[in-house]
Amino acid sequence: MRKIIFIMFLFLAGKNKAQEQVLFKETHRPQYHFSPAKNWMNDPNGLVYYNGLYHLFFQHNPFGNVWGHMSWGHATSKDLIHWNELPVAIAEENGVMIFSGSAVVDKKNSTRFSSDSKKESLVAIYTAHTNTLQTQALAFSNDEGLTWKKYTGNPVLDLHKKDFRDPNVFWYEPNKSWIMAVSQPNEHQISFYASTNLKEWKLLSNFGPTGDLSGVWECPDLLQVPIENVPGKYKWVLFTSQNSTMQYFVGEFDGTKFIEDKPGAKIHKQDHGTDYYAAVTYHNSPDKQPVSIGWVNNWEYANAIPTKPWKSAMSLPRKLSVKKEGDVWVLIQQPMKALQKLRAIQENISNRTISKTASLKQKGNCFELELDMIPSKNAIGGLRIAVGNGHFFEIGYDATLEQLFIDRTNTNCSFNAKYATINKKAADLKTMNGKIALHIFFDESIVEIYTADGSVVFTAQVFPEKSENGLEFFSNGSEIKFENIRYWKMKSAWF
Ligand code: FRU
Repeated sequence: MRKIIFIMFLFLAGKNKAQEQVLFKETHRPQYHFSPAKNWMNDPNGLVYYNGLYHLFFQHNPFGNVWGHMSWGHATSKDLIHWNELPVAIAEENGVMIFSGSAVVDKKNSTRFSSDSKKESLVAIYTAHTNTLQTQALAFSNDEGLTWKKYTGNPVLDLHKKDFRDPNVFWYEPNKSWIMAVSQPNEHQISFYASTNLKEWKLLSNFGPTGDLSGVWECPDLLQVPIENVPGKYKWVLFTSQNSTMQYFVGEFDGTKFIEDKPGAKIHKQDHGTDYYAAVTYHNSPDKQPVSIGWVNNWEYANAIPTKPWKSAMSLPRKLSVKKEGDVWVLIQQPMKALQKLRAIQENISNRTISKTASLKQKGNCFELELDMIPSKNAIGGLRIAVGNGHFFEIGYDATLEQLFIDRTNTNCSFNAKYATINKKAADLKTMNGKIALHIFFDESIVEIYTADGSVVFTAQVFPEKSENGLEFFSNGSEIKFENIRYWKMKSAWF
């Protein structure tokens, strides 16, 4: 009997392994961006580092590959690159969905969620959602995030509003209190509340409306971000998501209100691409270095992207800082260095000067590429990826307009009419010493582009067929030089 059980075990273990192999090898499956094994995902939630592990919770439908039954999915990682997916952490219950929110380490057991007064709990602060009401609620874990209980005293904050969501909480040492930034979506406002025990909250102030008002405001994040090259100095940055893009405000927080440095000056975009939303940062990070993760999708067509049995991925983890350009503070985002562990052998590509299309010998849609582009006057050109069958995705520079652009007009757009119309994005960008330095990550269906030292970033999705895997330079006829080209095929983080 034992033998039979053992043989059955071997059979099942083998089968699971085989299934896993097929999972994560599907067409379009990102190999070094996190995606759930199965089913729908949207916003990152409750990003918290605890006892050596980065926890990533996420908006998740455990039952299907479209939005619905929102619950918090869960994965952990030691390095933010290799992820281990765990069972659903906080599940929809009695028709109440678990919308976006944050998680904190309650170091002083201010909630008394741990029966041992000296022990700390992990506490999630999320939005409890029904069709008519959104309130803020708590859940806690006393086993390092593995299992969660909803607080029986929920809700902890109820304004009797249909739209009031996405609480993001942090500890503010000067006032010895928790601060919550929470969105009033239709008012284009972020409300700040204070509490000493995460259960009773007092309104401090409202920020907004200002900046980008083109869509309802969601998923706020307020934090101190280090000033580049000035150790120990920080600015406060407030992030919001609206209408499929994100914006940030730089200023100061005095314990009660957030004051923007240059109100109304300009809309600052965190990402200029088509697919970057709801990004938030890690709480309790080991070195106080803010790291953000965003959802790589766009509500305009999120449910329709052609991937199965999962939908959506997270961005690469990004290290945040700020620097002053003239008299304006700008956000700097850089991919985590740990990613370099996934670089396979570097392939050399020699310098080129082109004035028309020139293909490269490299094939494959899972790579990292760094290069400098030196455009002549009037040049429009750059790099095409996912080239094949007449399809390609363009990353280009327009020297006349002084803009970097992405263009997916010539990619497979047929799966969705809305996706097909959202195909070109551009950001103002001047050359530095005559050059545009590009750092590009392509991961099967996700493109991330970092330039201008990380002050301009693009994230986009593209869905090439397997055979659409070429690489080429292009130009409108004017000369463009490509120098300092470094290309790495990337190893999968899953196998
Ligand atoms: C942002 C968002 C949040 C909400 C969640 C629901 O993408 O709309 O405001 O909490 O998604 O899934």
